[in-house]
This record gives sequence, structure tokens and C-alpha cells, in this order.
Amino acid sequence: MRARVSIAAFLVVLAAAPGPAIAGDGVLSRDDLSGEDRERVAEVTAPAAVFDKAERFERRQAGAATSTKRVNANAFSHPSENLDFEGRQKFLLGNGLFRKDWVSSPSSTLASDGLGPLFNARSCQACHIKDGRGHPPAGHDDNAVSMLVRLSIPPTEEEEARIAEGFLAAAPDPVYGNQLQDMAVAGLPAEGRVRIDYEEMKIALAGGETATLRKPVLAITDPGYGPFHTGLMLSARIAPPMIGLGLLNAIHDADILAREDPDDADGDGISGRANRVRDHEGRLKIGRFGWKAIQPSVKEQSAHAFLGDMGLSTPLLPQHFGECTEAQDACRAMPHGAQAHLGAEEVPGDLLDLVAFYSENLAVPARRKEGGPEVLAGKQAFYAAGCVSCHTPKYVTRRDATEPAHRFQLIWPYTDLLLHDMGDGLADDRPEAGADGREWRTPPLWGIGLSKTIHGEAAFLHDGRARTLLEAVLWHGGEAQGARDRVVEMDPPERAALIRFLESL
Ligand code: HEC
Ligand code: HEC
Repeated sequence: MRARVSIAAFLVVLAAAPGPAIAGDGVLSRDDLSGEDRERVAEVTAPAAVFDKAERFERRQAGAATSTKRVNANAFSHPSENLDFEGRQKFLLGNGLFRKDWVSSPSSTLASDGLGPLFNARSCQACHIKDGRGHPPAGHDDNAVSMLVRLSIPPTEEEEARIAEGFLAAAPDPVYGNQLQDMAVAGLPAEGRVRIDYEEMKIALAGGETATLRKPVLAITDPGYGPFHTGLMLSARIAPPMIGLGLLNAIHDADILAREDPDDADGDGISGRANRVRDHEGRLKIGRFGWKAIQPSVKEQSAHAFLGDMGLSTPLLPQHFGECTEAQDACRAMPHGAQAHLGAEEVPGDLLDLVAFYSENLAVPARRKEGGPEVLAGKQAFYAAGCVSCHTPKYVTRRDATEPAHRFQLIWPYTDLLLHDMGDGLADDRPEAGADGREWRTPPLWGIGLSKTIHGEAAFLHDGRARTLLEAVLWHGGEAQGARDRVVEMDPPERAALIRFLESL
């Protein structure tokens, strides 16, 4: 079951779109830059040509927003270094909300209630551990807090049309909705438990080395609300790291669309398409966030997190009962936490804005050892293996970005923010917005080398199946099959250097 939007169909959709078209559809150039700026930008974002020393500015991989603080387990929790005083104050308030444990209603701690009735976690931080990534459950007795499972069923014709137009991401299970909530407030059953078993497989690498990959087999046990739809599709996702998101938001649409190659016109085996989704006002935007890029902004992603993950209403998604469906009537009838004197929602707009501001201003740490010989050899291997075809090294952000701290920065996120077919091994066979069941958004790689410094259980790829960076690379298939095969064929020192390079990011 696929819901692929062809470009032709998309143009028809665009013509009917209520808001302005996506900048860059048609106009493939940056309207925020002067001619002189454009030349400078082209120069500084050109691919690396020599690998005997670090490039200029490479250490500060998020420009002036980079954190140059000493690296330890808090390395992902610092504010962008170029935030002004007022920005730092907002960051601190947002930090409090990101860490806050919400409680169920009614409660004596009035401004903190409204959790659930169904939920996955009590705080943002419970999943985005220390502002870093999550991990799958450690065993059958561990709950899956920093991971969630998305649910959907094959869409009806009408739903399919709404998906094609960008209004709907997927058709929900009629009883369980869009996401499995494995926790519930007292008096209500949880929706079920996530169970993951692994099948191990050995991969032989050149030079006599081997690697062991674990393939997850996902199941849901103890369904709390009767049987699932027979066509149920599941997709497990770990929480991604929170750093550098405002800068990703400030990459110009034209820079993203310029790398699209949906029909692989250049014949390099790599296509790449932007996910096009509607924002809450119905405007068509490039999807940038989430493992399939279905959210156009950090604020929208955050509103969905409040609703789906914690059962909290915001002005963007005002249902106090969170993700309870019509079929879950007892859940819809539970008390909620909205209070007239604080606003119509459990999380009023100003608080949502603070959380979004915080989420957009977590700094990317500076590179380590970027000029060391092994790291440089690894960088060369990264280029030579074709990783840069998707993990685009550099951009200069918009001059007119909303936040001054994100404007006109040379950044090195190593992503094209496009969707790629990653092959059978990684397929979840569950389409989401314009992404099909084999496609994933190239994740940014900045900071990835610090993942386990932040949290020892940190895992890689959308469902956290990869325990190491090498395992993550060896899972690449589909459009990335060639790059993956080159890594398998590398001699051991070159492969080790490639990993050292990733660790230096
Ligand atoms: C139950 C775990 C969980 C909780 C709680 C949670 N998140 Fe997430 N978050 C995720 C997962 C999983 C994703 C990826 C979603 C996807 O692929 O669609 C994500 C994605 C994101 C992203 C996009 C990051 C990127 O690189 O694409 C942002 C921003 C975000 N969450 C913010 C928040 C905020 C703010 C909160 C609290 C209001 C929150 N999250 C609560 C699990 C969680
Ligand atoms: C065709 C595009 C493409 C190419 C080429 C490619 N990648 Fe990726 N990469 C992706 C996508 C998409 C994902 C996310 C897949 C998933 O989560 O299932 C990913 C994930 C990763 C991850 C894990 C990121 C995370 O946050 O968990 C690493 C590490 C990585 N790639 C490194 C590499 C290296 C090294 C190469 C070259 C050998 C490479 N990639 C080539 C698209 C690509």
C-alpha cells in the first residue's frame, strides 16, 4: 500500500493550495541573498576538495550557535552560543517545561495537570534523554519509554486523496488512533505493550572482520481496547536528538528542493524527494522533522508531541483528551487539566512557544579532533563512499530567518532533509504523508559521535536497532546500497577511520 504523490499530482495540488506555494517550486534560487552573497555562499558550501587539513570554520559546525563548552553528558543541553540575554531567559523557561513531569487531573499542582488520559511519557525529557536520542526497550520487562509506535491502516479512497493533498499523514486505527499509548491514568487500561524481539545476522566485511546486526520483530501485546484492525501497520521510532533544530528550520527551501531528483535524472542511483505537508493553517510546506519528515516546523512537532505523547492540548491541537478515539469513550470522558483562568488549553500558546523556542536553540557541540589524520582520512572515505550524496555537508542558513541567532550561519548538519528509499531491510511498510513504506528522511549527523556520551543506551536508526555507528551504516540499502557496499569492501583501517570521522561530528 503506497501513497506516493507524483510531481504532476503535486503541482495540481499546489495550484489548489490556499497559501503561497513553497518557495523554490519553480523558483530554484534564494530570494534572501544578494548576487554577491550568493557567490560567497556557493564558495563556502562547496564540497571539500582536499583532505590533508580541516576546512575553515569546520570546528564550529553550527556556526556562531555552536557550543564550545567542555564535552560531557550535558553536551546537548546548552543554549546556542549566540543567543542574546532575552533569548537565554526564554531558553531557561522552555527548559523547565521540557523537563517538567506532567500529572493527571484533577491534582493539587494545578498548572501541571492534564496528562493523558492515554500517554507515552510524563515529560519531553523522558524520551529525548538529556536532549539526546532515545533507545528501544532493553528487554521484555523494560517499558519502551523513549520509543513510540505509530499505527495506521490502509486508507479509504477519500483518505488517500487527503493524504495526497498533504492534509492527512495516515489513516488511523479506528479504535487505537495514530499511536500506541502504553500508559494511561489510573482507572483506564493502557493501549498495549510494545514487544521487540531480535533476529541476529552476521555480515562478513573485507579484511576478515565481521559485524552482527539485529533485526527487530515488533509486536504489541496486551491490547487494552479489543482487537486491532486487521490491516494494522506499525512503525517503531526512537526519539531523535534535539540539537540544532532551529538551524535546520532556517535552511532555505530552495537549497533543499535543489537537491531533489525524484526520477534520478542524473542516474547516480539516488533520487531524493522532499516530503510536502500542510502546516496547521493549511499551507503547503516542506516536511523537515520526524524520521519521515512529516512535520514542517519544530512548533508543530512539539504540539503533536504534547497531544500524542502526553495527552495535552495546545492551541494547535486543542483536544484535551489527547489521542483517545471516539471508540474510547471512557477515555474521552475523563477529567482534563484546562483551566479557564490560564487559557482554553492545558498547555497555553505562550508555553508551547517557549518549548518550541527551547527546542530550536539547543546548541550543537563543536567538532573534536577535526584536524587529526585519522579523522581526515575518514572524512575522505565518507566523501569517496558517496555518503555525501544524502548526508549533505554544508549550508548557509537564511539571512531572513525568524530568529536572529539562526541567520546567515555556515552550518554542517550532514543531511539533505530529503526522503530516500532505504531498501527492504529498513522498510516499515507504513506510508506516512508523502513518504512511502521504504522511505526515510536523511537524519542530520552533527553531534552523532557524542550520542553515547550523552546516554549510554543511545541507539541509531529510526527504531534504534543499530547499537553502533558501523551497524547503522551496514543497514543502509536501497538508494544507499552502493555506499554501504563500499564500506563493506574497505580495508579495516579505512573503515575504522570512517567511524572515527563520524565520532568526531
Ligand atoms: C514518548 C516519547 C516522546 C516524548 C514524550 C516526546 N517526544 Fe519528541 N519525538 C519522539 C519521537 C519518537 C520522535 C520522532 C517522531 C517521528 O518520527 O515521527 C520525536 C521527534 C521530535 C522532534 C523532531 C526532531 C527531529 O530531528 O526531527 C521534536 C522537535 C520533538 N520531538 C520535540 C518534543 C517535545 C517538545 C516534546 C514534549 C512536548 C516531545 N518531543 C516529547 C519521542 C518523544
Ligand atoms: C541514499 C541516501 C543515503 C546515503 C547514500 C547514506 N545515508 Fe546514512 N542515512 C540515510 C537515511 C535515510 C538514514 C535513516 C535511516 C533509518 O533511520 O532507517 C540514514 C542514517 C544514517 C546513520 C544513523 C543516523 C541516526 O541518527 O541514527 C548514520 C550514522 C549514517 N546514515 C551514516 C552514513 C554513512 C557513513 C554513509 C556512507 C557510507 C551513509 N550514511 C550514506 C540516508 C543515506
